[in-house]
Amino acid sequence: MDKLLVHGGTPLQGAINISGSKNASLPILAAAILTGEDCLINRVPDVSDTNYMVQILSALGADVERYSGTVRISCAEISEEAPYDLVRRMRASICVMGPLLARKRRAVVSLPGGCIIGDRPVDLHLRGLEALGAKVEFEGGNMILTAPDGLRGAEIDLRGTHGPTVLGTDNVMMAATLADGLTVIESAAAEPEVIDLANFLNAMGAKITGAGTTRIEIEGVKELHGVRHTVIPDRIEAGTFMAAAALAGEGVTLRRVCQEHLKAITAALVKAGHQVQFNPTGDTCTIHRGADPKGCDLITSPYPGYPTDMQAQMTALLATTPGISVIKDTIFPQRFMHCAELKRMGADITVDNGTAVIRGVEKLSAAPVMASDLRASAALVLAALTAKGTTAINRLYHIDRGYEHIDEKLLMLGANLERVKA
Ligand code: EPZ
Repeated sequence: MDKLLVHGGTPLQGAINISGSKNASLPILAAAILTGEDCLINRVPDVSDTNYMVQILSALGADVERYSGTVRISCAEISEEAPYDLVRRMRASICVMGPLLARKRRAVVSLPGGCIIGDRPVDLHLRGLEALGAKVEFEGGNMILTAPDGLRGAEIDLRGTHGPTVLGTDNVMMAATLADGLTVIESAAAEPEVIDLANFLNAMGAKITGAGTTRIEIEGVKELHGVRHTVIPDRIEAGTFMAAAALAGEGVTLRRVCQEHLKAITAALVKAGHQVQFNPTGDTCTIHRGADPKGCDLITSPYPGYPTDMQAQMTALLATTPGISVIKDTIFPQRFMHCAELKRMGADITVDNGTAVIRGVEKLSAAPVMASDLRASAALVLAALTAKGTTAINRLYHIDRGYEHIDEKLLMLGANLERVKA
């Protein structure tokens, strides 16, 4: 297992390219199941989560070729049983369920394992697919969905106690593309990654309107055809580097971003006293650490609100920002594992009932810390950039799940770090 040694205190400057979105790539790769023709998907980031998805598709019988960010998938022959051991390891693999059910009228997918950010139920996914006519059974840790007479359109409300579900919306939308008749999804997730999936499906011949709003309509069609698509930029990777630049930067430029997707993150950084400038086309931004940073309060909420996937990174920034900050995560109230590690580095944070109260300290100090989930690991890297001494971040595989060559990109910005075999 690799670990990262980060020697704090070196400022960041320069420019890097942001990769394609992991969270757009995963459902789009799964959507290729809906046709027997070739799909060519560009800018798929080389991270372990997308590698898992490619392995799952190959195990299902797809012919997959991957070369420098482009994935070609052909699902001419496809089985309906997803490999238990692979699916269990990645929650997002649940998004093969809707396409398999639509294409094969049967899907066998393992119940996702829980994970460190909280319980990851699938009740909303099942509610939606049952409404389309699927019968759901459970056996040996698998969910078995069948629809021998095919799926039929329905009116479905996907709202859960913590708001809409991103992958649940994706699953139902994909299944509904081949259902008989009209499907309406109320309380749909409106994330940019849902819009990117809908654009991919429409390019395949689906008839979807309303993606990006809370009401999505899907008119079923008989079949879908192959397509060529380029994935949107990764707004969470961009946000992570924006936070790094606010923490340790002396002018950092990020290319291949999408200003529209970064409004809530930009607003949070400006509220904390930092500067963010976009170019006229909105695909490049430059961040300067503010001269007078100040604590601020944040509440995560579904898009276009402040993303839960950027909660840990902002906590790392606010840990050394003067003043008191309060961060509440309404989507994953348990997503505060990074706080215990940040406190090991000297942060002053108290966590209670889904809320973290952060009292900014002058400086953090290096300590051996443990990565726990994807975004918590990123938060620890950010904290280490300005901490006194050398911080060792163990279990780096968490960060490799969702960040494409994060150490190489930080080195390009002048960070002083190295990846070593643990
Ligand atoms: C997606 O996960 C993202 N993953 C997550 O990013 C992100 O944190 C999350 O959306 C919220 O924005 C991918 O897109 C691959 P949800 P997803 O269903 O779709 C509850 C990362 O760091 N819920 O939108 O699985 C759930 O417990 C990852 O890249 C139910 O109650 O999340 C949560 O509280 C981490 N029942 C809320 O809804 C269900 O059936 C939102 O979850 C499904 C979800």
